[in-house]
Amino acid sequence: MKSLSETYDMQGQTLRNRFVMAPMTRARAKDGIADDQTALYYRQRATAGLIVSEGTPISRQGTGFAFIPGIWSDAQVHGWQGVTRAVHEEGGRIFAQIWHVGRMSHTSLQPAGAQPVSSSAKPARDANSTAFAFNDEGVAGFVEASVPRPLETNEIASIVDDFANAAANAVTAGFDGVEIHGANGYLLEQFLNPHVNDRSDRYGAGTVEDRTRFVLEVVDAVIARIGAERVGIRFSPFGKLFDMPHHPLIEETYLHLAAALDARRLAYIHLKDQGRADAPALSPDFLRKFRETYSGTLILAGSLDKQRAEQLLRHGLIDLAAFGQPFISNPDLVERMEQDLPLAKPNRETYYGGGAEGYTDYPVYQHGPEAKVA
Ligand SMILES: Cc1cc2nc3c(=O)[nH]c(=O)nc-3n(C[C@H](O)[C@H](O)[C@H](O)COP(=O)(O)O)c2cc1C
Repeated sequence: MKSLSETYDMQGQTLRNRFVMAPMTRARAKDGIADDQTALYYRQRATAGLIVSEGTPISRQGTGFAFIPGIWSDAQVHGWQGVTRAVHEEGGRIFAQIWHVGRMSHTSLQPAGAQPVSSSAKPARDANSTAFAFNDEGVAGFVEASVPRPLETNEIASIVDDFANAAANAVTAGFDGVEIHGANGYLLEQFLNPHVNDRSDRYGAGTVEDRTRFVLEVVDAVIARIGAERVGIRFSPFGKLFDMPHHPLIEETYLHLAAALDARRLAYIHLKDQGRADAPALSPDFLRKFRETYSGTLILAGSLDKQRAEQLLRHGLIDLAAFGQPFISNPDLVERMEQDLPLAKPNRETYYGGGAEGYTDYPVYQHGPEAKVA
């Protein structure tokens, strides 16, 4: 019977269990470079079978948060080397999540204060659609995302290149692979969603081939640079984050991607369920169809607990289970879940920004007669 504790062969890379630490932005890199604190944070969590790093922007233009470590410059690659070394010393594996936020940015983060870019000129305007950027006084905080400008058709190739360069940089930095960020309302999803994408060129919303062209060009460019077995991709079908309205073509779009990616023999596809535990966004029916279309490694994230993760594993619907917030407050989540120990609750106030507090100071479970949960 499949369990979270089993090892897993992911396209030739052996994972020591089926726990994945989901990508989580923590916004603590003062100069946009991963440092010793970053390395310590990931080292503490390296018992996961696979860690996916926080989103790491592929370019200044792709940046939508202040204080996040990028992966386009030599200094940034050097910073990440400390992180991958730490994880490998603990026997773990780590992929870099490579990221372009598209319209979810702010002029204060863009090169020369330019407008952010997207598939269209439509800004994200729902209540959550903020960027963590700088206000007019230069103080960091959540601000409304700026109005984007639509990318010219001939600009898209250079973003594809940025993704490929970021992937090559990730390998130089010692990452075991990359996860292309195709989820959560960021640039690639801004092309997949016909409510945002109003283009009429070959990346337009008219056909599923056109809508998915940018994503698949990125995948192919990254594969060409580092090999398919080191490439994963994340999607959030039926997610609405950052003003991504539902549309009738969701299933068609993602099943088309599932089929196209099946042929490419990737390391994995990572689905993020943006619902809640009691109301998942991904129906069992959709998950089953996706599974039938995509025969490679499938990861699921979103409000999972041990019981649900093992149930999905047993039913063969997923291969690996990703946990986000539980990993923030439980660096030893794997041990705690394996031994059914109580879990510590994370403090939301310290998710983003700041220093060691709420980052590297969550203790492991204290065994013994005075055992106390943090
Ligand atoms: C603080 C925080 C930062 C996050 N940053 C990212 C990110 O950089 N990239 C991403 O794809 N998802 C990000 N997520 C979403 C998580 O990867 C995960 O899918 C989500 O938290 C749901 O899983 P959970 O219910 O186990 O926490 C973030 C979530 C949190 C709580």
